[in-house]
Amino acid sequence: MNAHPPRLNRPSLDAYWMPFTANRQFKAAPRLLVSAEGMHYTADDGREVLDGTAGLWCVNAGHGRRRIAEAVERQLSTLDYAPSFQMGHPIAFEFAERLAAIAPGGALDRVFFTGSGSESVDTALKIALAYQRAIGQGTRTRVIGRERGYHGVGFGGISVGGLVNNRRMFPLLPGVDHLRHTHDLSRNAFVQGQPEHGADLADDLERLVALHGAETIAAVIVEPVAGSTGVLVPPKGYLERLRAIATKHGILLIFDEVITGFGRLGAPFATDYFGVTPDLITTAKGLTNGTIPMGAVFATRAVHDALMHGPEGAIELFHGYTYSGHPVACAAGLATLEIYEEEGLLTRTNQVQAQWHAAMHALRDCPNVIDIRTIGLIAGIELEPRAGKPGARAYDVFTDCFEKGLLIRVTGDIIALSPPLIAEAEHIDTMASMLGEALRRAA
Ligand SMILES: Cc1ncc(COP(=O)(O)O)c(C=O)c1O
Repeated sequence: MNAHPPRLNRPSLDAYWMPFTANRQFKAAPRLLVSAEGMHYTADDGREVLDGTAGLWCVNAGHGRRRIAEAVERQLSTLDYAPSFQMGHPIAFEFAERLAAIAPGGALDRVFFTGSGSESVDTALKIALAYQRAIGQGTRTRVIGRERGYHGVGFGGISVGGLVNNRRMFPLLPGVDHLRHTHDLSRNAFVQGQPEHGADLADDLERLVALHGAETIAAVIVEPVAGSTGVLVPPKGYLERLRAIATKHGILLIFDEVITGFGRLGAPFATDYFGVTPDLITTAKGLTNGTIPMGAVFATRAVHDALMHGPEGAIELFHGYTYSGHPVACAAGLATLEIYEEEGLLTRTNQVQAQWHAAMHALRDCPNVIDIRTIGLIAGIELEPRAGKPGARAYDVFTDCFEKGLLIRVTGDIIALSPPLIAEAEHIDTMASMLGEALRRAA
């Protein structure tokens, strides 16, 4: 019956409590990946699986990059770990300098290292609060997120985030409010790039200022393109308007670029792509090509310098992680940046853009597709849910694709694709045709 070779040496699956996974369902029918190279994973039955998601939006330069492996190996045998509190090691400074050289918007060139996207978000929120206090605006303790936002899983991140399943079980930070989301299928379905309608939704920030008082609001955080919630592209003019309103009221603007950072849209950062410059930017994922966990918060000099005050010897920001600026992660990050630069990956998406849009939007005629949205090397394909079974249709497409050899990602009934930035025309065609077949089977 089994068309695939038998799986050898599968470990017991009992002890590992898996994240964001239906554990019992998974363990009854597991999907295990055992190796990866270039655009492909290999499953534990030997099947090749085309990576339509760059792992989890992070393996931007593709898998199995020797240069990163060698840099990590070298660093591990030179300086495996060193503390970053009141101590330093050269590679962290070197990596920060290299990141500053590609500073988002040419402006955010001060870098705070973290261990993940969630830590970057909590860090940025804390920097925003500390900044307001430092400039004499200590009444600004409120932070604003957005409905359907995803900012990781720390208490800060779930509080400003807008995904109900991540929030409902937990107490949240006080003093948080949310802008409305920008998703509007009635006016903006099947759009390539930015939709026309909805810039006025940025005026929600004015509404919250009127409700709470500007002097209580420290910062507003949004994903320039919301990824995990199902690929929501900002309407034309929306980010510009949000920037203007935030500036007018002394509110810091934070872009969560954990997904959009490092070339996903065809520019180094979404900040560059949209030409809208925030005050703080959170990153992770593509920072090290997903190889070693690491995040980074980029800050403007204005934000950074405002905190560089106080008595000599005073720690300016009481915040940091054991793994902030971890030497091995920095080595991975430096090698990753070299690859991005040498292979032009931070802008490479522009070369395959036209084909990407066309291939994805050609899926429009597949059964149950109610929207397709594309920007950079990202696509969101929204399906009509099965009656009374939200998420079931997309989940079936996901498992079917995996069986046939394509990794996609689903959230609810939305399919998200975000392949490595090395994807060639043939990979894009294969993704589109495999997904099309799966959509027809799930009809
Ligand atoms: C926009 C955004 N922010 C934050 C995070 C959290 O990152 P991490 O899972 O590394 O904590 C993610 C993860 O997908 C993300 O997409």
